[in-house]
Amino acid sequence: DPVKQPYRTAFHFQPPKNWMNDPNGPMYYKGIYHLFYQYNPYSAIWGNISWGHSISYNLVDWIDIELAISPIESYDINGCWSGSATILAEGNPAILYTGSDFKNRQVQNLAMPKNVLDPYLREWIKSDHNPLMAPIGVDPQFFRDPTTAWQGPDKKWRVVVGSQINGHGTALLYQSDDFVKWTRSDRPLHFSNKTGMWECPDFYPVSVDGVNGLDTSVQGKNVKHVLKASFNDHDYYIIGIYEPETDRFSVSPDFMDSNVQLRYDYGIFYASKTFYDSAKSRRILWAWVTEADGKSDDVDKGWSGLQSIPRSILLDKTGKQLSQWPIEEIEKLRAKEVNLENKVVEGGTTFEIAGITSSQADVEVSFVLPNLHDAELLPPGLLDPQLLCSKRNASTEGVIGPFGLLVLASKDLIEHTAVFFRVFKGHGNFVVLMCSDQSRSSLREEVDKSSFGAFVDVDPTDKISLRSLIDHSIIESFGGEGKTCITARVYPKLAIDKESRLYVFNNGTESITIANLSAWSMKGAQIFPLHKRRKPQ
Ligand code: FRU
Repeated sequence: DPVKQPYRTAFHFQPPKNWMNDPNGPMYYKGIYHLFYQYNPYSAIWGNISWGHSISYNLVDWIDIELAISPIESYDINGCWSGSATILAEGNPAILYTGSDFKNRQVQNLAMPKNVLDPYLREWIKSDHNPLMAPIGVDPQFFRDPTTAWQGPDKKWRVVVGSQINGHGTALLYQSDDFVKWTRSDRPLHFSNKTGMWECPDFYPVSVDGVNGLDTSVQGKNVKHVLKASFNDHDYYIIGIYEPETDRFSVSPDFMDSNVQLRYDYGIFYASKTFYDSAKSRRILWAWVTEADGKSDDVDKGWSGLQSIPRSILLDKTGKQLSQWPIEEIEKLRAKEVNLENKVVEGGTTFEIAGITSSQADVEVSFVLPNLHDAELLPPGLLDPQLLCSKRNASTEGVIGPFGLLVLASKDLIEHTAVFFRVFKGHGNFVVLMCSDQSRSSLREEVDKSSFGAFVDVDPTDKISLRSLIDHSIIESFGGEGKTCITARVYPKLAIDKESRLYVFNNGTESITIANLSAWSMKGAQIFPLHKRRKPQ
């Protein structure tokens, strides 16, 4: 019932009901995409953690099937926590996951498909050898979330487990010949004395000059490696060089080295995981996008947690950061389209983009800016972009911006979320700030309306592009062709379903020009339990 469930999404992955957190073990196997996820089968609050399991032929429409892994053994009775899938050398998948054992210790376990000929991989058998890795010399509360394994030139498998040692975030490294007997290396793959516990580490190669993603065991020339760790509520990454012969990983800059950190997303986006899609030679990123409402709201809704739109992820041309873009398959949901070209947006004006279902939409826009000689100076002492976005919100007039979109907006604009840019003069260069301002997203008092912001490494004398995927209570925005991403959760009271509108605004004194704008109504994805599946259209 859309009236009772204004916040349920139409094309983001969510199970029919209950609690969901981290994406687990995503993989492509024999023509089918698998997504597992941290799931409470009994309620909308975290607990009884099991692995939910859904399958898809296109990463958009999903068939929900039975739980893959449930907490019933002594080594996982207190929860089957996060983990990853690896396609082994013979082509069969294996899952490594964390069990919270009967003493609430974290251990790593193995599960294998009961029948590799079942393309849905519905049943998983836990290994008789579990637990495979025990917290020896590690705090048993800080030992979890094994990565997808990779093979070195010596054919040994390697896997990283997230940890905290002496208070320092650590990527413990394990090696194995047979995937069952694992030995910890003396040296971790990486650690940082500037962060605490690393949850859900991810480690994978990216191509320096190619447009394709790489399978996890690819090493060698023209390859860099990415290490992602989840801490302080965010997913941070660093890029470096990995030597498989020595298992050394050298990076610069490291986590927390500078005041601007590389994050996959500067909004709500956590515990992410990538996998290699051999069908389309790309690496795909999934993440948990949690609620920003209260626990009791989740109980009332009967659910909590979304997965991001899967994003294809590549090393940016500069080599200094990654760029992300929603997988192309999502475009099949685009329905009615409206377009604009070469439209001047005078300073201080706002206009509506009418004609699409604005509560469920995909919007792509590119802006051309005027001469930037009058741009404001980057305010000294306000170098933190998120702070800058909340101190200078969408209604704070500027020179070059703020300009952008007002999404999930009510007719009178009492409610709206502003996704926008502002251009500043820095030290001999221009600085582009991107913000997602939730401060007026809802008349409801009790939801979190923090603003998010980050810089975008683009040249504003060229075009500045923005794409926003709007889906009832989530807005995923991609600035500068995916160089800076911001995901927000919002809970409008008025701007729901047909009452939701889309606007373009410019609150700077200088005019800007929309070079191109396309906005589409989005159809809903099909997400059904196996027995309720509709015929493909
Ligand atoms: C991250 C996390 C993981 C853990 C799982 C438990 O959100 O805390 O570290 O394995 O969730 O559900």
